[in-house]
Amino acid sequence: MSTIIELESTISKLAARGKGILAADESTPTITKRFQAVGIESSEETRRTYREILMTTPGCSQYIAGVILYEETLNQKTSQGIPFPEALKNTGILPGIKVDKGLVHLANSLDEQVTQGLDGLPERLTEYKSKGACFAKWRAVYSISDTTPSKLAIKTNAEVLARYAAICQEHGIVPIVEPEVLIDGDHTLARCEAVTEPVLHAVFNALYRHKVKLEYIVLKPSMVINGKTCPQKASIREVAEATIRVLKRTVPGAVPTINFLSGGQTSEQSTAHLNAMNQLGNLPWNLSFSYARALQDYCMKTWLGQAKNIAAAQTAFAKRAKLNSLAAQGKYTEAMEKEEVSHA
Ligand code: 13P
Repeated sequence: MSTIIELESTISKLAARGKGILAADESTPTITKRFQAVGIESSEETRRTYREILMTTPGCSQYIAGVILYEETLNQKTSQGIPFPEALKNTGILPGIKVDKGLVHLANSLDEQVTQGLDGLPERLTEYKSKGACFAKWRAVYSISDTTPSKLAIKTNAEVLARYAAICQEHGIVPIVEPEVLIDGDHTLARCEAVTEPVLHAVFNALYRHKVKLEYIVLKPSMVINGKTCPQKASIREVAEATIRVLKRTVPGAVPTINFLSGGQTSEQSTAHLNAMNQLGNLPWNLSFSYARALQDYCMKTWLGQAKNIAAAQTAFAKRAKLNSLAAQGKYTEAMEKEEVSHA
């Protein structure tokens, strides 16, 4: 198959209206931290079991178009002995893979970071593709303070994101381009808006210079929101309006789908914000989710590492998947939080 046909086939599935992406690609240190917070031991087997719970939830392919895997999971099998990428494809869900190698200090910056992992990326993509991966993810982070993000951090991360995206497309892999403006800090909504606009502008400028075909990317941004410890909490509508304002100024209509990260918002906030944005209407792109914590929190806290809780944990996951699917169509209401969700 030509790479363009591969890219077209993948993006048409990822951009389907009412479907989103499950980020289940936490690195081993990150998932270990999340497990430990709720008293679950982290081992290769508990991580495998947990990811199997998510991916085999009955009915979840109605809401989930793709799952981002960590390399360990790409190489693991379900309890029936089926490799996870194959098991996903059997239910109509596309497997993806996190390909960045995390954050390192950006030299000559004040505590800023750049994402590494470009060295050897073409070879790794070839291997991941042979194991079934159709799309990839690379996350850049920007922290807000009085002096950051600096122009250096904005420009450097944009350049690296664009190089990653170009390499992915050359291999017939759809790149998820993830510039995350962190929620940590006491900044206002207005400050987050003032930072997110140049960050996205730089990303699209770099994508253009690197000849990335915008028709075959997924943009995974953070929402424009006040910092976690800011005393002035923005309303759902304010977050929705500010986020859409910035996206309309910076993201060309050629981009088929924007799938947000949840970034430390609660499960309910992430759903309500996505819904409010879709209700604004008149959007040039599909607007959906690519959440990790906001899809998984209740599931993990229900499972607690115990076999007897698996069915309830899957119900908890299916509920978040369904409510976010409705939010991606502007059809969610807060009252639905109290309803039981039948999902199978
Ligand atoms: P959160 O939804 O938990 O922010 O994670 C999304 C993600 O994939 C971060 O890279």
